Amino acid sequence: MTVSSQRSVRLTGWGRYAPAQVLTNADLERMVDTSDEWIVTRTGIRERHVAAAHETTASMGAIAGLRAIHTAGLQPDDIDLIIVATLSPDHWMPSTAALVKEAIGNTRAPAFDVAAACSGFVYGYATASAYIGAGLASNVLVIGAELLTRYLDYTDRGTCILFGDGAGAVVLSASDEPTSTVGIELTTDPQGAYMIWLPAGGSASPPSAETVARGEHKIRMEGRETYRFATRTLASTALAAVAKAGWTQDEVDLIIPHQANARIIEAVAKGLDLPMDRIFVNLDRYGNTSAASVPIALTEAVAEGRVKPGDKIVFVAFGAGFTSGAVALEWTEDPARARDADQVVRPEHVTVRKPVDWDSVDPIPPVLAEVLAKPLPGHMDLSDVVPGEPEHAHAHAPD
Ligand code: ACO
Repeated sequence: MTVSSQRSVRLTGWGRYAPAQVLTNADLERMVDTSDEWIVTRTGIRERHVAAAHETTASMGAIAGLRAIHTAGLQPDDIDLIIVATLSPDHWMPSTAALVKEAIGNTRAPAFDVAAACSGFVYGYATASAYIGAGLASNVLVIGAELLTRYLDYTDRGTCILFGDGAGAVVLSASDEPTSTVGIELTTDPQGAYMIWLPAGGSASPPSAETVARGEHKIRMEGRETYRFATRTLASTALAAVAKAGWTQDEVDLIIPHQANARIIEAVAKGLDLPMDRIFVNLDRYGNTSAASVPIALTEAVAEGRVKPGDKIVFVAFGAGFTSGAVALEWTEDPARARDADQVVRPEHVTVRKPVDWDSVDPIPPVLAEVLAKPLPGHMDLSDVVPGEPEHAHAHAPD
């Protein structure tokens, strides 16, 4: 492939997917010593989605990806690069992106994963922009997908209440019009490397009966240190991207931050001296979906009429590493283009191929399976009624 001079990059498609099953704070009260009041006050989270046994990071990513491709008005084979940001891949090998490529019916794109934890989507976005700018790709699918409920220690009330499952995606396309992505900032601070981590399973500590017995395949976190890093870094990273865009922060119409904790988001608003009505928040219904959180929030923000052509938008995220990243972009697309994406791309039509001679053990942690099997009174499972989109239906269910 020849490398041309910097080409213009536009965000042309967006989409998301959230699994049907919902785990409320009340459900968590039945699993660990916690309370709805504590979780809401300290984090802002009320419920999170939990993937079903047949779902994986790749299957959720493929659904969100196909929705983004549909919104962009493209076919799967128009995509010439696929990037999946995740810290919860289906397998260590192959990449989740390779599985997504097959599931969406793409035959021509190279596909790879990006590992930057909750900043992964922003890192993937930056990578995609660089490929397009350099003339190495024309339509890139960037997916953030996570299945974190299978990596949680359900005896650790400091972490198991925070995370949820889901996927979001965007399509970035080369354009002859002015570029819409105007500022990118990425940081990595290895001082925080062991503040959020998953000790075993990698080459430093290969999986064994002993690592399993020690519970080293679950996420561990120093909540306070992570909180400190996030509040310090999110605003400064966003400001750096805003400065690179040549904007001032008061010109920003909407900040779409990583949805980790409402108090962290409020601190970002304060750090940027912006009112909360210019910050998008949906973590009450999703919890922290790590790399999926920004593209899910973007898709909801557009659907809710919070984004219109000409708006100045900033994505900003932080995560394990510690990493942080921000993108400043001018919105160019008609929000109505995404109107029918969720109806057109149905979860039941998307399949990730399994190996012929292998099947996984039941992937759902037993304590989680037990709580989900015995819903609270009035906690209606509407997944059969509105397949794939029960969160809206769920919102109208009686308490
Ligand atoms: N329910 C009830 N009590 C709890 C819970 C719970 N779920 N969790 C902790 N507590 C208790 C603690 O045991 C402690 O009790 P003690 O005072 O008797 O010892 C008390 O509450 C205070 O605990 P802290 O950990 O100090 O609580 P804090 O106010 O810091 O809130 C939290 C904890 C919500 C985890 C916060 O630190 C936080 O949000 N940190 C950032 C986490 C984050 O965003 N992580 C994602 C990073 S992104 C990625 O890459 C994965």
